[in-house]
Amino acid sequence: MKKVYIETYGCQMNVNDTEVVFSILASHGYERTEDISSADVIMANTCSIRDNAEQRIWGRVDYFNTFRKSRSGLVVGILGCMAERLKDALLDTRKVDVVAGPDAYRNLPALLEAVSEGHPQMDVELSREETYGDISPVRIDKNGVSAFISIMRGCNNVCSYCVVPYTRGAERSRDPHTIVREACDCVAAGYKEVTLLGQNVDSYRFEDVDFAKLLAMVADVSPQLRVRFSTSHPKDISDAVIETMASRPNICHQIHLPVQSGNNRILEKMRRRYTREWYLGRVAKIRSVMPDCGISTDAIVGFCSETEEEFRDTLSIFEEVGYDSAFMFNYSERPGTLAARNYPDDVPAEEKTRRLNELIELQNRLSLESNRRDVGKVFEVLVEGPSKRNETDLCGRTGSGKMCVWPDTKHRAGDYVLVRVEDCSSATLLCSLAEK
Ligand code: 5AD
Ligand code: SF4
Repeated sequence: MKKVYIETYGCQMNVNDTEVVFSILASHGYERTEDISSADVIMANTCSIRDNAEQRIWGRVDYFNTFRKSRSGLVVGILGCMAERLKDALLDTRKVDVVAGPDAYRNLPALLEAVSEGHPQMDVELSREETYGDISPVRIDKNGVSAFISIMRGCNNVCSYCVVPYTRGAERSRDPHTIVREACDCVAAGYKEVTLLGQNVDSYRFEDVDFAKLLAMVADVSPQLRVRFSTSHPKDISDAVIETMASRPNICHQIHLPVQSGNNRILEKMRRRYTREWYLGRVAKIRSVMPDCGISTDAIVGFCSETEEEFRDTLSIFEEVGYDSAFMFNYSERPGTLAARNYPDDVPAEEKTRRLNELIELQNRLSLESNRRDVGKVFEVLVEGPSKRNETDLCGRTGSGKMCVWPDTKHRAGDYVLVRVEDCSSATLLCSLAEK
C-alpha cells in the first residue's frame, strides 16, 4: 500500500474535500499517513482566497521539495483552489508532480499512476455536475463528534473581490438523498453534530428541495444529531430557513452572515447585491424569530477606494449588530477578479492594517459584551473533549456556537451536558456543571 500525506489549508469545505480525496484514494490502494517522512505521496489541499494564504503554501512546496530531492519516487501534489488558479505555473517550478483542481479528484488515482520521472500530470477541468455525492468521506477530524457534509459546490455570485467562482467553478447542488444518507452514516458512526457546507447554502436547490427543506430533512434524521450550516448570504437567506431553524430543536441557532462592509457604495462596488438596510433587516428578522441566535460575520477592510468615513460604516454596523464573533481581513487583490480588472488597489497597506486593528479591537469588545450577557445562564452543550489548557476540564459549544469550558471528570466527547456560565473572556464561557 502506498502512503499518502495531505495537509489542508483554507475553509471547512477544503477539509471535507480532503476527506473525499482520502476516500477516493483508499479505494485505489492508498493508505493515509500523518507522518510526512514515511509518505510516498505528499499533497497540499490549497486555498487562494488571499495572497498570504498562497504565500504560506509556496513555503510548503519548498519544504516538500526537500523530501522529494532526498527520496526517489516521492510524488508531490497540489490540490484545490491554488491548483485551479495557477495551473502550469505550479508545474513550471519543477517542484510539483501533480496538479489537480477541485473537480478533478476522481481522476487523482490515474494522475498519480501516470506520474513518472519527467512526466508531471495536471487536471484542472471544472465541472458543471461533479458533487462527489456518492462518495463517503474518510473523516480526518479526531474527536469523532462533529462532521462536515458538503451540500453544494462552486459559487455563482461573482463578488468583485473574490477568486472562488474562478477556482471552484459554477454552483451545483448535491442530491438531497445522498446528503441524508451521509447524515445517517454519521449517526451510525457515533457522530453527534453535522455542519452542512456550501459557499452560499441559501441558494441550494435540487429539483423541488430548497435549503429550508433540506435543513428539515437532515434535522429529522435523528433528534440526537445537532445540525449547523455555513455560509449564508445576506441577499438569499429566506424566512423559510429562519423559521425552519426555529421549528427543530436540534438545528443550532447560529448563523454566519458575512457582511463584508457596512457602507452602501462599497457593498455595491463589491457586487454584494444588498444594502446595509437590507442586511440589518435580515438580522432583525433572525432575532425576532430566534432571540438567542448566534450571529457571526466576515468583513474586509481597505477595499478599493474605501474612505475613512466608509470604513466607519463598517465599525458602526458591527456595533449595531453586536456580533458574537467575526473574521476580519485586509483586502487582498486577486488576479482575474472583477475588482482586480476594474479598480486600483489604492488603500495603502499601513492604512488597511490600521483599520483592521481598529475593527478587531471593536469586535473583541463586542465578543466580551456578548459573552457577559450569558453569565448566569444555563446551556446545553455537546462535549467535544478535554479543553486545550486543562486535562480535567471539558470543552464544548452552545447551540449559538460559543465555546464553553468547565471542570468535569464524569462526561466524555459526544455527551450532551447542561452547564451554567460563571464567568467569561472574549473568547470563552467559563462554566460549571448544572444539574439536569
Ligand atoms: N481579500 C480579503 N478577504 C477576502 N475574502 C474573500 N476574498 C477576499 C479578498 N480578496 C474574505 C471574505 C469572505 C471570507 C471567506 O474571506 O470576507 O467572506
Ligand atoms: Fe475555500 Fe475559498 Fe480558500 Fe478555496 S479559496 S479553499 S473555497 S476559502
